Amino acid sequence: MIKLENVASLDGKVTNLEVFCEESKYIDASGLLALPAVIDPHVHFRTPGMEYKEDWRTGARAAIRGGCTTVFDMPNTKPPTVTAALLAEKKALIDSQLAEADIALRYHLFFGADKAHLDEIAKVKQACIGIKVFMGCSTGNLVIDDDESLHAVFSIAAKEDMLVAVHAEDEHLIQQNKANFKDEMNYHAHSKIRNIEVATRAIEKAIALSRQYGTRLYVLHVSSAEEVALIKDAKRAGLSVYAETTPHHLFFDVSAYDTLGGRAVVNPPLRDKHHRDYLFTAIREKVIDTIGSDHAPHTLDEKIRPYGACPSGMPGIEFMLPMLLNAHHEGLLHLDEVVSLTSKRAREIFRLPHNPDWVLVDLDKTTAVIETLSKCCWTPYLGKTLRGWPVYTIINGRCYHVG
Ligand code: DOR
Ligand code: ZN
Repeated sequence: MIKLENVASLDGKVTNLEVFCEESKYIDASGLLALPAVIDPHVHFRTPGMEYKEDWRTGARAAIRGGCTTVFDMPNTKPPTVTAALLAEKKALIDSQLAEADIALRYHLFFGADKAHLDEIAKVKQACIGIKVFMGCSTGNLVIDDDESLHAVFSIAAKEDMLVAVHAEDEHLIQQNKANFKDEMNYHAHSKIRNIEVATRAIEKAIALSRQYGTRLYVLHVSSAEEVALIKDAKRAGLSVYAETTPHHLFFDVSAYDTLGGRAVVNPPLRDKHHRDYLFTAIREKVIDTIGSDHAPHTLDEKIRPYGACPSGMPGIEFMLPMLLNAHHEGLLHLDEVVSLTSKRAREIFRLPHNPDWVLVDLDKTTAVIETLSKCCWTPYLGKTLRGWPVYTIINGRCYHVG
């Protein structure tokens, strides 16, 4: 039996919390396994400017249901988070949305590196978790595609002891490849345009900059064997280079275009199947440190558009832990690897203090994904029967019954 101060229901509206808060309550945790709550270092909760896709009321509920109590949000919003003032405004909006949802989700913000605002970086040292650099365009217009600005970002970051997180895709090569596929309206073209060379060229550059300036480098959404090889070498050379992968790169491959259509379009793109095996090996070898959901909701209307008009990204936060627990049952991951990926390494890399947050999981609960709390109302995991689900998510003494 675990004694908790506050037990709440997460019924989509998150009402009646006060009722439960009045007295302490014991929950019967027998048969459940307590894991440190998930830290998701990569989400796009869309505030400000794109709240029709997601906001912090719906995003927080999806997070809690997925066993996650800490998220790091990305700066490619409208407007993008590229000045200290915009960062403060964004934080105020988030706080009011979380207050409305009555969920004290822990969060940190990435600051967007932008050529026109390089002098803002040092100002936000204490207010952000790190600097996000889009080396290639993705959702939004944030991009740093010139070497001079890249050098400046890595140099300032090293001086200020700030971490640089890179979306490592080379913009010039993307544009070149686009010209070669301009008549192709097939979703499969996405993986050809943003091919593996697009990723490795950018990662090589980022690692070289990390070596030159001594900058701590976090490579987001690693998707292929070739990227893993570069990161492995950098780690062997003693550089402070860390790697994240995503649930969609572990659990989907290019064959998903045939079943999910535009819903499978994401940056960096899905790869051929053998890369998924490499990613699991890289986890075992500790080349990959963390998993980020890269929760990037777009509406279904947007995602069913033809290739070229369909935005990149898919939601993921809610089913990341169940997918990993299911993979554990399939013999693909040890439980300690799940913990390392979902909380331990992120805590170390991002220097987070310990917190009293837990997710109590029923390792044997087997059920299908039938709906989502994300505002976008769809999930690529729909219909998958998974074994291993969160039952209670505990954040700072408040307990949510989520399954
Ligand atoms: O697929 C993606 N979607 N990749 C990104 O880098 C951004 C994200 C989004 O914000 O939609
Ligand atoms: Zn992202």
